[in-house]
This record gives sequence, C-alpha cells and structure tokens, in this order.
Amino acid sequence: MNYHILTLFPEMVLQGLNTSIIGRAAEKGLINIHAVNIRDYSVDKHRHVDDAPYGGGAGMVMQPGPVCCCYEALCSTLGKRPRVLYMTPQGKVFNQSIARELAMEEDLVFLCGHYEGIDERALSMIVTDYMSIGDYVLTGGELPAMVMVDCIARLVPGVLNNDESAEIESFHDNLLEYPQYTRPEVYEGMRVPEVLLSGHHKNIETWRRQESIKRTLERRPDLLEGANLTKEEREYLERLLLSAGDNQ
Ligand code: ADE
Repeated sequence: MNYHILTLFPEMVLQGLNTSIIGRAAEKGLINIHAVNIRDYSVDKHRHVDDAPYGGGAGMVMQPGPVCCCYEALCSTLGKRPRVLYMTPQGKVFNQSIARELAMEEDLVFLCGHYEGIDERALSMIVTDYMSIGDYVLTGGELPAMVMVDCIARLVPGVLNNDESAEIESFHDNLLEYPQYTRPEVYEGMRVPEVLLSGHHKNIETWRRQESIKRTLERRPDLLEGANLTKEEREYLERLLLSAGDNQ
C-alpha cells in the first residue's frame, strides 16, 4: 500500500510516521510512505507557492499550478491516477468504516493545504474526496493526513502482529473495547477481575462482551444502535438501562 502525501512540510509527515508500528511496517515494506514537496513544483524563481486571495481578505492561498503539477508528475510516475483525499475541516468526517474502505486501495494521495487553503480550481481538477478528522480547525492538513495514514495502515494485513487485534479493538461491531489488565494482580489495593484469572475462556468472553456493552452505554451510547447484540446481550443491556433508571 502506497501513501503519497503532497505537502509543503514533507519532513513533518515523514518524521511523524517513521516510528513504532507504522515505521516498522514501512521498514518491512508492507506499506510505503512517500512525501512529496509541493514547493518542488513551483515555477517561481523564489519557489513561491502562494499568493494573496482575489477579492481581498486575510492570509494567502496556495496557487493551483504547483499543486496540479505535483499530482500530475506523480500520476506519470505511477502510470495511474489514484484517489486524492484533500484534508479540510469542510470534508466528510473520517471514521473506522471509511478507514476500512480506504485500506483496500493500492495507492492513496493525501493533499495537505496550508494558509487559507488551496485555489478552488486545483481542487476541482484533482480532488476525489474531501476529508475532515473532526469539527475543529488545524493549521494545515499534515496532522490529519498522519492520523488517517496511521488508522488506514494498521488495517493492512501484517501491519499488526496479531491479525485479530485490528478487528477486536474499539469500534469493531460498534462496541468500545473492554478494559484490559496485566500484572500485578493487585495494584494499590485494586484486584484484577476474578474471571480473568479463572482460565475459563467462555466466561471470559461473556464478561468482555458485557464490559464492552457497559462501557459503550456509558461513554458512547450513540454507537449502540449499530451494534450486533445477541438475545442475551440485549437482555443484559436492558438490565443496565433499568438499573441506570433506578439510580436516577
Ligand atoms: N485542516 C485543518 N483542519 C482540519 C481538520 N479538522 N480536518 C482535516 N483537515 C484539516
């Protein structure tokens, strides 16, 4: 899987993505992170890539030429025209199911804007998807691109040690992950739940599913509507809701 990040700050994204699990995956050749400096496509003798907005207003706008030339040069090298995700707070809000869909793509281009954004004509020519990482405004698209690459790349087979772990974690089946414990058995007077020490796999599985349901109800009740619960689990949820009602 090849992630091409078009940016004015290539060293920022390369440094941010070369550590830990994603760095190891790149080293192993499971993914390839390729940062391209949009400034290299400036035809200006001072390597300018931005100018004042027509119509007036604050800040600078990235010019269309360097952005389009940067993408076209990449397409010529690749021999194809990959999807271009433009990082913007005006985009569709990224989530786990979009990550799953994007993880199927062989090549993805992340276009990072700066200043007041990119000239609309360049966007209309090359962008296929407008993506946001949440309803807040950052200074540029690099951090959003890094967030998305991290989330997408960990779904690529082999990137996580244990093939299962990507699926078991939070948001699988619209439930948050159950609490985890490790040694010591008692910490500051708090014991690890007994069932986890029992070695009884069926009971552990039931306990974990119930903890996931309880946690999702407490922290993200909006997710429960899309969760796939068994009859017993729905009954468990009903009991939780009843006891919450009793405590009001
Ligand atoms: N650029 C600036 N803010 C952003 C956000 N929240 N998501 C994606 N790109 C952005």
